[in-house]
Amino acid sequence: MTHEFLDLPQLISAAGTVRLPGSKSISNRVLLLAALADGETEVRDLLASDDTERMLEALKALGVGVKHLGGENWLIKGCGGYFPVKQAELFLGNAGTAFRPLTAALALAGGDYVLKGVARMHERPIGDLVDGLRQLGADVTYLGNEGYPPLHLKPANIVPGGSVKVRGDVSSQFLTGLLMALPLTGETVAVDVVGELISKPYIEITLATMARFGVMVEREGWQRFTVKAGSRYVSPGAIYVEGDASSASYFLALGAIGGGPVRVEGVGRDSIQGDVKFAEALAQMGARIEMGPNWMESRAPESGLVAVDLDCNHIPDAAMTLATAALFAQGTTTLRNIASWRVKETDRIAAMATELRKLGALVEEGEDFIRVTPAALKPAAIDTYDDHRMAMCFSLAAFGTPLRINDPKCVAKTFPDYFERFAAVTRAAPVIAIDGPSASGKGTVAARVAAVLGYAYLDSGALYRLTALAAQRAGVAWNDEAGVAAIAAGLDVSFSESDIRLAGQSVGEAIRSEEISSGASQVAALPAVREALLFRQRAFNTAPGLVGDGRDMGSVVFPKATLKVFLAASAEVRAKRRYKQLIEKGFSANLPDLLLDLQQRDARDSQRNVAPLRQEADARLLDTTALTIEEAVNQVLAWSREASQ
Ligand code: DC
Repeated sequence: MTHEFLDLPQLISAAGTVRLPGSKSISNRVLLLAALADGETEVRDLLASDDTERMLEALKALGVGVKHLGGENWLIKGCGGYFPVKQAELFLGNAGTAFRPLTAALALAGGDYVLKGVARMHERPIGDLVDGLRQLGADVTYLGNEGYPPLHLKPANIVPGGSVKVRGDVSSQFLTGLLMALPLTGETVAVDVVGELISKPYIEITLATMARFGVMVEREGWQRFTVKAGSRYVSPGAIYVEGDASSASYFLALGAIGGGPVRVEGVGRDSIQGDVKFAEALAQMGARIEMGPNWMESRAPESGLVAVDLDCNHIPDAAMTLATAALFAQGTTTLRNIASWRVKETDRIAAMATELRKLGALVEEGEDFIRVTPAALKPAAIDTYDDHRMAMCFSLAAFGTPLRINDPKCVAKTFPDYFERFAAVTRAAPVIAIDGPSASGKGTVAARVAAVLGYAYLDSGALYRLTALAAQRAGVAWNDEAGVAAIAAGLDVSFSESDIRLAGQSVGEAIRSEEISSGASQVAALPAVREALLFRQRAFNTAPGLVGDGRDMGSVVFPKATLKVFLAASAEVRAKRRYKQLIEKGFSANLPDLLLDLQQRDARDSQRNVAPLRQEADARLLDTTALTIEEAVNQVLAWSREASQ
């Protein structure tokens, strides 16, 4: 497996509008009810994901008319409760939101069906649902292990005047599946929930969606649900799938931390999803929230966010977002009653605590709570545990530090283009990338531009020089790629205004000698060394901005730099400048040798295979042959003003 990562620069603000992808829970409920309904339904804003694809495939296999209208819009030709195909074998992958409701509907639909999934699907229990269906007269056989898929369904012998008992304390999905299938019995059926019903907001989504298709469920508290004989699903014509309320949480948090306003479209005051309550939690932290029927907007408070102590049982998924938002709230935030985090995609309490600590936050965790105290954040590589929400939550931390997110594509589970949308509403700390050959004056120009703007300064050449020096001191040859890369990865270096320290010791001029210049050029040609130094360089991309100089600042390290400058000068002029520099520093030097050396290094830096020195198409050329340093600095500053307008 290739190691994929995404490096985020430090963010300085957030504002804009995001149209959310459709909710997964609502998408598959709507598809099934549209298939069971009388009439055609135009389903708009359906979520494009694995789970919905499995459902669409299954419906097609059952003879339901499914037409893609383009984009996220689909036309479903309802079959009035009777699937045209009476015998089929369906493969449902790992799509729980397709498997459970289809089991219920097909068990009561009067056909002969086999339902299968991937191996993991066959480890996910379904016995409670099957027990409920059997009480109604369904004929269900387990083809593998008792209580688990795959299943064989044959036509049911519906028991008249039915009543069903189903457990509510394990998963609300069984109750959802049963309720949606009840109109197929043609009888009045009452469902009694045994045990305390969990995840009530999800049952509310089920009831609201059924109501949109014309079936009203009578509810006595959360214990008894009754569907009357004669209930039929009828197409509402067109139906919009609400945006995913859990996905909204990241953008609302962005607005609350990064100024805002950030508006999400697709969920709002009229939402049927429980996770919209996240907005209230964020408001308790001080965020300024506004809502319309199908939009929400957040802005930062004037005086900064404040910590909260919250019971999060009603918003388990969105509450994860509060854990990383807490990094920007004054005080200690405690999120309670979140034991369910431990049994999700990963043990989310442990994962959250481990990764927050990497960034420098103080974290305390318990069986069912997490407590986060902010601190000055430091760059780190964040692991995401194949959990989409971990990846999305930690993107918020970029307001405190540049960071690396490992395996960012795990967001595809619910939000495939999350990071594109994220980039569209956030503004990163700007970078001025100055590349050019040795002794072109870029170091001096870059450092002065940084000082004028109050930005950080990255002398990337120094990192290659330090690597060469550290390798030499450790007795590792400059052509030993793995050996030098290991040295680069572990480089213990600190930069300050006047000084560079290696393993705590000032390096002084040791990295500027001709010998180390040559060593730096050699180690810089090794791909593993460049890879090892990549994140270290990107970690300089902090607020309020950065000026970086080197060979690949604009091409590889900061390809999205606000301004890219290619600083050039004739080899003769550069050799003379270098000569003067060396003499001033008390080194002995010889001009013809220097020129030759420079030409050799130019050749190696620009002809190597990896990140060769070249002028990027979007870089501006600054030829300093006939310019003073002052003139060069002023030109870069003028371009920088232009670029930031
Ligand atoms: O800029 P400098 O002369 O200090 O760089 C020293 C060496 O490091 C030089 O030979 C090229 C290499 N280098 C690089 O390959 N990429 C960079 N971004 C910076 C320097």
